[in-house]
Amino acid sequence: MECDGDFVGTAQTVQDMSYPGSDHPSSFHLFTDALEIASFRRNLLSWYEVHKRNLPWRKQASAESNVNRRAYAVWVSEVMLQQTQVATVIDYYNRWMKKWSTLEALAKASLEEVNQMWAGLGYYARGKRLHQGAQQVVSQLNGEMPRTAVELQKLLPGVGRYTAGAIASIAYGQATGVVDGNVIRVLCRVRGIGADSSSLAVMTALWALADTLVDPARPGDFNQALMELGALLCTPKAPLCAECPVKSHCQAYRRVQKDLDSAFQRLKGKGASERESLSDIEECVTAAGSCPLCLPPMSPWDKKLGVRNFPRKSPKKQPRQVQTLTCVPERRSVRGEPEYLLSQRPSSGLLARMWEFPSILSDTEMSKKEQKRVLSGHLAAVTGGTGGLRGLRYIGQVLHMFSHIHQTYLVYSLSLDEADGTTVAPERVKGVDSARWVTKAEFQKSAVSTAMKKIFKMYENQNAEKQKKSKISKRKRSPEGDNVKSDAHRQLSLDRFFRPAC
Ligand code: ADE
Repeated sequence: MECDGDFVGTAQTVQDMSYPGSDHPSSFHLFTDALEIASFRRNLLSWYEVHKRNLPWRKQASAESNVNRRAYAVWVSEVMLQQTQVATVIDYYNRWMKKWSTLEALAKASLEEVNQMWAGLGYYARGKRLHQGAQQVVSQLNGEMPRTAVELQKLLPGVGRYTAGAIASIAYGQATGVVDGNVIRVLCRVRGIGADSSSLAVMTALWALADTLVDPARPGDFNQALMELGALLCTPKAPLCAECPVKSHCQAYRRVQKDLDSAFQRLKGKGASERESLSDIEECVTAAGSCPLCLPPMSPWDKKLGVRNFPRKSPKKQPRQVQTLTCVPERRSVRGEPEYLLSQRPSSGLLARMWEFPSILSDTEMSKKEQKRVLSGHLAAVTGGTGGLRGLRYIGQVLHMFSHIHQTYLVYSLSLDEADGTTVAPERVKGVDSARWVTKAEFQKSAVSTAMKKIFKMYENQNAEKQKKSKISKRKRSPEGDNVKSDAHRQLSLDRFFRPAC
């Protein structure tokens, strides 16, 4: 399953929130003082004004006066930003908005065009759902975007609580909080929340905190500032606490200062009883070991980690290991240009309707001979041939991580005779919707995954290496040059490829 990056939950306030398995959390983990909340907002927003990055979707959202266009512009950016780095998203966002500047324009596009535009961003279901959502707004809602976070989440596919909150706060000015990965980290540190950050108790507390803190006067800026703080200062591995605008509100930072202070007092040779320690540090008052938000007693505060004690995550589930056999078939077009065979994936499941070099799942125990047999059988199915072992050459492995799958592609090449002129009929075989030959330029523009691009790069590098070696060996054998191809390197026609090997 591909994740849409949204965190599931329902809007609740601190008062009506129920904490699984416990009473309300201690005030240590909350913001209860109105003056402190006001100060937190002020400090964060002043910092944001100075340090915010100049990002295209921010400009678009502040310059656009039409509310539907504004919401659409935010929606596109928020969907792209789920699980993808800001630096990568910028170019995709600009190209997307240039091509489809309105919901209506996107609704008219084909899924093939959307996949093509999304190629390389990963988690392709996101683009598909955005496209579906635009079509629904146009056809069912008269082109009007739902006007609240609750309605956005209810009516649009792929829009969860996070995306709905981001659109509603940034595009409509609705005072509703957001919780994404950056916000989880910032708020867990700020409120000393060390229980498993994926637990229901922690997520419930974080959404309540986000809703409490959001500035009703500038909700969109506030939410973006909290995320920006997580991206720029309150980072996972190297937090820059000294520069943090809200360090005076941060329980994790206070704890680090307390540790430093104790170490300093020890250096001065003072005993615990005579230390002029920092003012009494507030602690969670819940009975030891029973707070659903505190660090677990079996893995308490680690001085070496400092603020990085928070957040704590349960160990990740090991990704599934999957092995795929892939072949890059190459032929010469009538113009003498190299062309490559692509086939289209089924319309549901992982990478739905994306294009790929003919590929088939395999088990990890297969010998090279078996791999060739299975792959040539698959190629026969794609092209309508009969399958054989000749001409397939193993060229190496490509590893690619999908969110939950560790893919190993075992890559083979197959070089076909330029005189062959084989065409591949679309929709020839069950399970493979269609197949087509593409030039290198067409391949680059096709809706192909990053994994396929890596495979193509490896294939090209191998070819370049092979050509270099063959030039050197020819020069060694015959200083005058030798145009005769060795048997191993001779290109095969599809006919010959499918002739059973003797
Ligand atoms: N991450 C996702 N959306 C963001 C936004 N609007 N600002 C900063 N970081 C983000």
